[in-house]
Amino acid sequence: MLLAFELSGEHRTLPESEVIACLESVNAGFRVHISPDGCLVIDLEDGSDRIVNILTEKLSMTHNIMRVLEIGGQDENEILDMVENCGFEPSGTYSIRVRRIKQYSTVSTERMEQEIGRIYFRKGYRADLKNPKTRFRLLLTEDKSIFGYIAASIDRGAFDLRKPHYKPFFYPGVLMPRVARALVNISKPGKYLLDPFCGTAGVLVEAGLMGIKVIGGDVQRKLLLGARMNLEHYGTDYTLMYQDACRLSLRDESVDSVVTDPPYGRSALIEAQSIEHLLEESLKEIYRVLKKGRRTVFISQRPIEAVIKLTGFRISEMHLQRVHKSLTRHIYVLEK
Ligand SMILES: C[S@@+](CC[C@H](N)C(=O)[O-])C[C@H]1O[C@@H](n2cnc3c(N)ncnc32)[C@H](O)[C@@H]1O
Repeated sequence: MLLAFELSGEHRTLPESEVIACLESVNAGFRVHISPDGCLVIDLEDGSDRIVNILTEKLSMTHNIMRVLEIGGQDENEILDMVENCGFEPSGTYSIRVRRIKQYSTVSTERMEQEIGRIYFRKGYRADLKNPKTRFRLLLTEDKSIFGYIAASIDRGAFDLRKPHYKPFFYPGVLMPRVARALVNISKPGKYLLDPFCGTAGVLVEAGLMGIKVIGGDVQRKLLLGARMNLEHYGTDYTLMYQDACRLSLRDESVDSVVTDPPYGRSALIEAQSIEHLLEESLKEIYRVLKKGRRTVFISQRPIEAVIKLTGFRISEMHLQRVHKSLTRHIYVLEK
């Protein structure tokens, strides 16, 4: 079964990485079919809705998951032929939306919607824009047209309701919930997830909401109290510790994944000789407490490949996220 993930444009590489990590986490048999900008099409072995349902609850950087009926080129007449002959009959009413990804295509979306609507009208189906049974979708990417129908939509608004200033405790410097959730997914979490620089628990809340047992540490008591308020508010299963990330009171190989955003060395309190020392020592501790074969997502304001080399971790991915002129996050995905 071909599935298309309509990816969010908020980041160039994280949305695809999030989908792939989620698929691997649930041991889905799949291969990437095509991956044009803004969209990922996979060939999934399991033809049921099981995987789609699981991923819909997890993902934060995907808009829709589509069942793909046909993939073609960009010629308008060819697209209409493709739709006409795709052989799929909707079960009841339908709607049709055509979306051009990042202005790549010159095809008129309005005209296409009307023409495709006409095809199904001629076949005897009735359109219902408010509550259709089948929501057809045509995606126009840089050189392809992907036709199918929506199998599931991600409730991205739920993440907006958890923006930092809506939570019981707010302190600046927090990751936005959608980014935090994507990083949790990319870490391929298991039973226990650790954030040794947890601050107000932005990462831990997102992991906790997925039923993961979360463990947080910080050296500011005020922030730990705030983290507790936030974690209580969302009813998560958590443990918080007042501890230096360079000396974790956790057993060797006891956590399944780590996602963390250490201080960048400007205003944040650092209980270490230098930011370099803090990053190196905390990474060594994370390596020690993480189980073999598992992942850590570690953020830094600067490239730290040389430091990572000293810890035993293997760099699996690196994503750059520009926050503002003087802050670009380097998001490392590390494997033990
Ligand atoms: C960038 S903030 C983390 C923000 C967090 N992701 C959130 O969502 O609120 C970095 C945190 O590291 C903490 N910190 C600084 N030095 C530390 C150390 N040596 N051990 C543990 N935490 C430390 C700071 O108190 C701060 O809360």
